[in-house]
Amino acid sequence: MEEPKNIVFQCELKARPFSALSTKELNLVHKALGARNRSHAPYSKFQVGAALLLSNGHIVLGANQENAAYPSGLCAERVALFSAGVQYPKEKVEAIAVCVMEGAKQLPLPCGGCLQVMSEYEYQQKSAIKVYLIEEDKELVYLTESTRDLLPFSFNESHLPN
Ligand code: THU
Repeated sequence: MEEPKNIVFQCELKARPFSALSTKELNLVHKALGARNRSHAPYSKFQVGAALLLSNGHIVLGANQENAAYPSGLCAERVALFSAGVQYPKEKVEAIAVCVMEGAKQLPLPCGGCLQVMSEYEYQQKSAIKVYLIEEDKELVYLTESTRDLLPFSFNESHLPN
């Protein structure tokens, strides 16, 4: 019998100063920063902004929307993704940029639920979504080529019984 092999996962987030981004990328970053102002976060006071770039060049915005009934709220990334899914069902999502509230000391890492939703879009559209995590204070982004870098073992349609 073959020796069982470990499964190893490595992830590299590429640091890119704003100055090294293309006009298109920088525009997406600024849209995400602007979307943050549309956040409704009176409970956590943690504003999150997201912007998606679609294959037709459109940009779709998202911001977290909280609710007095806490679990009814939704993260910025999913607000943007579900909105794009409804408004532009035939377009691919090429990239997503995400930022969190000004002065935050941590990277704006999407939560597991948002990564799962991103990975569903990737799986369905059969192409990767680039992720730009914005560190506003340092004027840089951390870039990954696919949501798989952040959620390598995602659950998808292929895991469901026929
Ligand atoms: N939040 C997002 O919008 N995106 C994430 O990926 C993580 C968390 C929001 C949800 C909630 O409104 C606030 O941040 C605090 O958790």
